[in-house]
Amino acid sequence: MKLPLVELHLHIEGTLEPELIFELAERNGVAVPWATLAELRAQYEFTDLQSFLNLYYHNLDVLRQAADFTDLTRAYLARAADAGVRHAEIFFDPQAHTSRGIPLLTALGGVTDALGNSVADFGISTKLIVTFLRDRPADEALQILTEILASGYTIDGVGLDSAEVGYPPELFEEVFALAAANGLRRVAHAGEEGPPEYVWSALDRLGVERIDHGIRSLEDAALVERLVRERVPLTVCPFSNVRLRAIDTLADHPIVRMLDLGLLATVNSDDPAYFGGYIDDNLAALDAEFDLGPDRLALLARNGIEASFLEPAEKAALSLDVDAWRAAQP
Ligand code: HPA
Ligand code: ZN
Repeated sequence: MKLPLVELHLHIEGTLEPELIFELAERNGVAVPWATLAELRAQYEFTDLQSFLNLYYHNLDVLRQAADFTDLTRAYLARAADAGVRHAEIFFDPQAHTSRGIPLLTALGGVTDALGNSVADFGISTKLIVTFLRDRPADEALQILTEILASGYTIDGVGLDSAEVGYPPELFEEVFALAAANGLRRVAHAGEEGPPEYVWSALDRLGVERIDHGIRSLEDAALVERLVRERVPLTVCPFSNVRLRAIDTLADHPIVRMLDLGLLATVNSDDPAYFGGYIDDNLAALDAEFDLGPDRLALLARNGIEASFLEPAEKAALSLDVDAWRAAQP
């Protein structure tokens, strides 16, 4: 039996594997600047968040038709099922597509099609969180959200991602207020490269229920105290932090310290096609590095369940499966 996992920090665009880039380039007659997979893979060396985002946005050029988005999403779901994922709350960046001329509903429709069959085809329940690019104008985010709300497509929440420093959460207060007024859940990337003040602002000005990354919260004792007291989840992505140089090496990663502090930390893959692995790879590497053992692996799985936007009965059912996994371990 695999450890039942919940994935809460996963950019669907970040699951675009090099092989699929070439396949979609051929399908759509898009020229890519790399002759071989190896040449493309050689680009996957990052110095910071922006150096990654440059390649991430560039590679999206091969996604053109709704079916491309469906194939991308199904490929993630298949790999996630293999990892033991039972529930995924997936980020989708509409502006990464509308800004290059792809109609909003082409992209959203393609992703939604795959998610609609996810339980039947992959045994994974899903939620969809539309993430806004914080380095683009808040007015554009507002317009996209308004279009989605009028479209008839269902989304579950909104988030905030892309280049963080210089783009504080409060710029998006109106967008998040509209989301809240429409019953949507709210999350935001904060404290990845940005300071703890951005985490406070995401909580107080945007009303978010989870913080994505949040690792720099550890620099602020009063913030840690609040996050622990209010059980605000942090969706931590260890491979991402190392590959984007937020943390020097996996051995330096604070995930164990976060658990010891009583933070509701979860482990996630962020952009697995870019950072060296999926959620199971992240957990296996942490287990090897820190000797997590079955109790802390089960704790991380339970934290993911608690931090999710599932209903209480769904959480209880998944928790029983984690209990069964734990009972089967030595
Ligand atoms: N941080 C910010 N923006 C992103 C990320 C990330 O880790 N992945 C995709 N967009
Ligand atoms: Zn992210």
